[in-house]
Parts: sequence; structure tokens; C-alpha cells
Amino acid sequence: MDYDVKDMGLADQGRLKIEWAEATMPVLRLIRKRFEREQPFKGIRVTACLHVTTETANLMKTLRAGGADARLCASNPLSTQDDVAAALVRHESIPTFAIKGEDNKTYYRHIEAAIAHKPHLSMDDGADVVSHLHSKRKDLLRHVIGGTEETTTGVIRLRSMAEKKVLKFPVISVNDADTKHMFDNRYGTGQSTMDGIVRATNRLVCGSTLVVAGYGWCGRGIATRARGMGANVIVTEIDPLKGLEAVMDGFRVMPMNEAAPIGDFFVTVTGNLKVIRGEHFAAMKEGAIVCNSGHFNVELDIPALEKLSKKKLAVRPGVDQYTLHNGRRVSLLGEGRLVNLATAEGHPSSVMDMSFANQALGAEFIVKNYKTLEKKVYPVPTDIDKEISRLKLAGMGVTIDKLTKEQVKYLASWEIGT
Ligand code: ADE
Repeated sequence: MDYDVKDMGLADQGRLKIEWAEATMPVLRLIRKRFEREQPFKGIRVTACLHVTTETANLMKTLRAGGADARLCASNPLSTQDDVAAALVRHESIPTFAIKGEDNKTYYRHIEAAIAHKPHLSMDDGADVVSHLHSKRKDLLRHVIGGTEETTTGVIRLRSMAEKKVLKFPVISVNDADTKHMFDNRYGTGQSTMDGIVRATNRLVCGSTLVVAGYGWCGRGIATRARGMGANVIVTEIDPLKGLEAVMDGFRVMPMNEAAPIGDFFVTVTGNLKVIRGEHFAAMKEGAIVCNSGHFNVELDIPALEKLSKKKLAVRPGVDQYTLHNGRRVSLLGEGRLVNLATAEGHPSSVMDMSFANQALGAEFIVKNYKTLEKKVYPVPTDIDKEISRLKLAGMGVTIDKLTKEQVKYLASWEIGT
């Protein structure tokens, strides 16, 4: 079997961690059972380009249980859990191409290796496989019946491709499902980002000032969790509605140039580039800690930080301390790549359960419907989204009320008024 992982000796440790994650992934477990019976992916080749984590391993096992010929490569050079990659190869016989810390050349060599089986389906987190197929491997496009996309940034890229009429197959936007972004982006990013900051720095959060750039679902999650840990949270935004929402949620809102000299911690989650720039780094106080939790490592202008600095020292795993010409020191976490995966383990399995249930069912939807789908970005069908929330509640042992007949009638009527 073809594969490229760091150390096969880590496989047994990886398997235990995959099983640990599985314990809080009841929805995916149910889907896997059905897939075993129904074999929806029989004869289907799937290339998955996802963060190689314990949760992703459970998704891969689910696809394979459904009959897929599935291969996996990393969707970020720093997010791979090497023990998980080894376990997927040794214990699950899933060709996996991912090594934590791989350079850009290896990253793309791994994508090439993962698509070498000529996929029918792409499963992306950040649209790198779709983009690679459309730019470098057009020869493989004729095999592809569709794809799924996990994250906000990837969906933005795909919508732009669809608008420009260059997208060559339908893609399901998993990110748009309520059972994805309301939980994964908010609670998953919220908790795992704070986890990444704390693991990397071992600094006290309470009493500090933490600046969150961006108040989308991820920003809301981080701001709320940071406040819960006792930080004074500042939010920066470019969207007046989101800025207003942050104010009414009780956060201080101001432009980055005002926040820069005040913050102890800075986190970017905007999906845009150069959100923290040279002028901001230059204004930061001694000891400021900067990181990014957005998909790509473009939100911090790291070349500008390098230019402003006379010295760079790796002071702890995942922490590079820059000494600026002005004498102050600014620390960068996880090389500016998503800190929740670079210095922690990503979102906990309980939220990834819903995200990956959407991936699995989105992929099944494509296989069943691709003949009638256009080359567009589609949301996850609402009935799938609803079913996932129902199954998740059931998996958590939570029951809710049912409408009475009278209530159903009332909701359908327009005659009953004051
Ligand atoms: N994205 C964020 N957290 C993740 C995780 N634990 N596994 C896969 N993808 C992720």
C-alpha cells in the first residue's frame, strides 16, 4: 500500500486515541453502521484532504465502512497527528500521506499522491484538492462526480469558482449546515483556540486583555470562551452589524490600531489577509502573544514582523519570540497557522461528530444525486441537517417536547388573533 507518514511505530498509540474520540461521536457511529449495511460508496474512490486528527480518522473509517476506496492527505502542514496517520495506515489500511511540519513541496506531493487513484469524490477542508484538480491536474476532472467542503474559507473559494463558471463539478458546502457552523465554528474553535494558546504558552488568561479579530461564528466562540476564562476581551471588525453585535454581547469594539498597544493576546479569525500588519506589531507591548485561528496563515503579516525584528528565537514548542528593533518582544504561536490545530488537537470529537456526519451524508447525497446536480455549490439538504441535530440530541441522551395537535393547528392558522 502506498503511504507516507512519519513513524509507523506510533500506530498503536494512534489507534487508542482514535477509539477515545469515537466514544463521543455517536452520530458518526450510527451512520457507519448503516453504511456497513447499505454500502453507498461501493466502487467510489474518495480523496479526502482534511486535518489528520483522531476525528478525521473516524470519518475515514466511516467512508471505508460504506465501501469507499478512500485516501487521505493533510489540509494543513502543521495539523497532522503523526500517531493517527500511522494508525490509519497500519490498522485501517487507509493510504495516508501526511507528516506534521511537512514543507510546502511535501504538502503538494502528498496531495498528488492522494489523488493518484483518480478520485470520483473530493472531500476538502480549504478547497486545496479542488483547486489542485482545476489548476494542475485537469486530466483527472473527468472522473470526478462531486465534492464536499468543510470550511468557510474553502466555501468562499468555491463560490468564486462557481461564479466565474470554472467549477467543473458540484460541491456540497458542509460549512453552511446549521449543525456544522453553529457548533464546530463557535464551540469547537472557541475551546480549541484557547486550548492551543494555553498549551503553547502556559500563560494565565484571567486578567489579561485578549483581542479577537473577526466576529463571525469562530470569533464569537473565541470571545465567549476567553471571557469565560476571565480575559478582558476586545473585538475588532470591519462589518458594522457584527461590530454592533459584539458591542451588545458586552465586548469592547475598536480598530486594530487602538487595540494593538493594549492587548496581551491577539487572535485572528477573519478569513482575510494582513489583518495584523507591521504598524500593529510595532505598537504592541512587551511580551504580546499573537496567533491565528483562521484557515490560512495569511491573516498575520509575518514578513512584516520579520522585517521589524532583529532576532527570532524558538523559546518553547510552537512559540517563536521576535525581538523588534524597538526592543520589545512579540511571540508568534504555531508559525501563524491555525493555532487550535498547530499547538493543540483541534476541535473536540463531540462537535466534529456533527461536522463529519454532514461530510459523510453530503458525500452520500452527491453519489445518489450527481446526475441531476449542476456545477455549483450546494448547501447540505435541510432534512439531513435536521436529522443530524435529532441524532446528536439522542446520542447525548437529551429529549425535547413535541407539539400538541392543537399547537400544530395554531401554527398553521392565520385566523386566530388577539
Ligand atoms: N478542524 C478543526 N478541528 C478539527 C479536528 N479535530 N479534526 C479535523 N478537522 C478539524
